Amino acid sequence: MEDEIDQRKLLAGILRGEGYAVAETGSVDAALADLAAAPVDLVMSDWKLPGRDGMELLTEVKARFPETAFLMATAYGTIAHAVAAVRAGADDYLTKPFERAALLLAVERTLRSRRLVDENRRLSEEVRDRDRLVDLVGKSPSMERLYRQVEKLAGTDATVLLAGESGTGKELAARALHALSRRRTGPFVAVNAAAIPETLVESEFFGAEKGAYTGADRMRKGKLEQAQGGTLFLDELGELPLSMQPKLLRALQEGVVTRIGGSSEIATDARILAATNRDLAQEVAAGRFREDLYYRLNVVSVTLPPLRERREDIPLLVRHFVARTERRYGIRVEPFPSALLARMVDHGWPGNVRELANVVERLVLLSEGGRVSEGDLPGPLGGKAPADAGWRLPPGGVSWEEHEKDALRQALDISGGNRARAARLLDLPYKAFLYRLEKFGLAPSDEQQT
Ligand SMILES: Nc1ncnc2c1ncn2[C@@H]1O[C@H](COP(=O)(O)OP(=O)(O)O)[C@@H](O)[C@H]1O
Ligand SMILES: [Mg+2]
Repeated sequence: MEDEIDQRKLLAGILRGEGYAVAETGSVDAALADLAAAPVDLVMSDWKLPGRDGMELLTEVKARFPETAFLMATAYGTIAHAVAAVRAGADDYLTKPFERAALLLAVERTLRSRRLVDENRRLSEEVRDRDRLVDLVGKSPSMERLYRQVEKLAGTDATVLLAGESGTGKELAARALHALSRRRTGPFVAVNAAAIPETLVESEFFGAEKGAYTGADRMRKGKLEQAQGGTLFLDELGELPLSMQPKLLRALQEGVVTRIGGSSEIATDARILAATNRDLAQEVAAGRFREDLYYRLNVVSVTLPPLRERREDIPLLVRHFVARTERRYGIRVEPFPSALLARMVDHGWPGNVRELANVVERLVLLSEGGRVSEGDLPGPLGGKAPADAGWRLPPGGVSWEEHEKDALRQALDISGGNRARAARLLDLPYKAFLYRLEKFGLAPSDEQQT
């Protein structure tokens, strides 16, 4: 769909030359009439058209022909249009003017990813939910700023360092950067430097040939290689062992990896995003992080604001997580009482959004008759358990056993003797809770096996 006839003939000619069947039209209404008559696999449209524009066509196509892929052409310098199109459901965009190769690549990639989408359509609601990519919630000025940064950076291949406390949404931001980028149909590969034992880091990152070490019974591709054509997310990079840092730097700089036990260099093409909750500049100063690697990764940095600095987003986030929990577990709850919400807005949230999400999920799951109860707030928020924010070990110490026994008794009190609930109040697995009750002789013998 292109209103300029010469341009359109040229595009159609290129595509026909590659064996595609092409139908051309010059207006949104004509395109919709054609689609109704004969469905197509892919619609490619210019953003700017006389009368109704490409966005209107996109909206109609999404609503009426959901199986049809959509490729939007936008003018150079209007990345906002591209982002809006992708948000509205376009599969990809092309910035004009584009070259023949870019056109063919985009068409082929879009059709390929469409086929994958079709294959995956049978996935359950929950799985789709978990895989949703652009999922950041928040309207505070600091979040608005973050969205603008993400939109701007998504259009580039720049390395981005995501900074911010734990649970502030660094991984979510990384996924958004990928989802809005040209690499979105390629893989998003995350590797968490803190989660891998030091001895395995190298094979995890770079891969290993069969027989490279004892137990390497087959060839394994490393994460850098797996991210080919997509985005590599280096999570918790501050934890990367110093010994690994020069190897990573070299791989990033030269764009090649060598598997352990291998001799050939394998070219990699991945966009690099890194995250850390440490102050890397400080780590560099302390000699725990290599300066050259730091500068290689810190081309652009984006900082996720802690939740306590954007409290106005808390009610919005609560709603978001309530809805998610309701969907996930098929339950419904009444809106949170305002006193409870006020308490949540006032809390310090050391664990940020992750902590908030967990607290909300717990309140919803423990609700009774659709009503959530302040009594179900965990320690520091509920203020009932001994882990109360103000609790300090007295200088003279305490008897730990008495302390624990007291906590168990109080939990049973609050839950009205319901032991499953009492266990949840203490954040203990049910079995562990029962074991402790017995240990302190708090379990009535006639109830031994609930
Ligand atoms: N702005 C946000 N909107 C919605 N959910 C969020 C937001 N920020 C974080 N979360 C959720 O909080 C949890 C932690 O986010 P994550 O991106 O893993 O944090 P980090 O990587 O900074 O530790 C995830 O469940 C994520 O979905
Ligand atoms: Mg994380």
